[in-house]
Amino acid sequence: MIEKLKWNYESAYSYYLADSIPSTNTYLKNNGDFYPDKTVLIALEQTEGRGRYNRVWKSNSDIIFSILLKRNGPYAISTPLAIVLALEEFGFDTNIKWPNDIYYNGLKLSGILIEDVYKEQFQFSVIGIGINLSDKEEVNGIGLNTDISSYSIIQKITEKFDILNSISMEEVIKLYRNKSMVLGKDVSYHDSIYKAIHVDDMGYLVLQNDKETLRISSDEINIKEALQ
Ligand code: BTN
Repeated sequence: MIEKLKWNYESAYSYYLADSIPSTNTYLKNNGDFYPDKTVLIALEQTEGRGRYNRVWKSNSDIIFSILLKRNGPYAISTPLAIVLALEEFGFDTNIKWPNDIYYNGLKLSGILIEDVYKEQFQFSVIGIGINLSDKEEVNGIGLNTDISSYSIIQKITEKFDILNSISMEEVIKLYRNKSMVLGKDVSYHDSIYKAIHVDDMGYLVLQNDKETLRISSDEINIKEALQ
């Protein structure tokens, strides 16, 4: 069952809660036409949570939600940044591993799955966010391990997200660069080693070695230190 949350909190977003659902992303992808722009669907439990590259996203009593947006935008950049800036306000020092994973104390804390729905033309984006509350040793993941309410964290993230989506891309990218954990590091990409030298003004990561310079969009890279 999905219920609309009535919060004493001024927001541009409408918040809904599902107790148990296969996946908040799948639900909004299939039902986005019936919900307004800036709908947030929170789940207490997800039975078929999905990650990037068809991976499974397992989450027990973690923070699980998806945001429906009817306008296209540079969400691969603004979403991780919104999470990092929101968590900073609660005292957590986190940063972003390209393209949009959130790391805390060197381990993965949060993942983002962005899916766009097209029917001839763009209809909407669904931005799924999972944040661990407890450590996930089986996948080398860390949790916030906090008493702060998940709802306050979600509200803060959506507040930051709204601000970031209203300022210029240039400003957002500047802020993103400050929170990137890959810039200046040696990274591996398709079996070659590069230095991650820049996030350019279009939001691409620039990789360089003595043979070539590449611009990558949403592909994953590995930080070399972490592989050794
Ligand atoms: C990843 O790191 O691979 C992305 C994980 C995204 C998980 C979230 S949890 C809420 C939303 N619903 C899903 O099925 N997936 C995303």
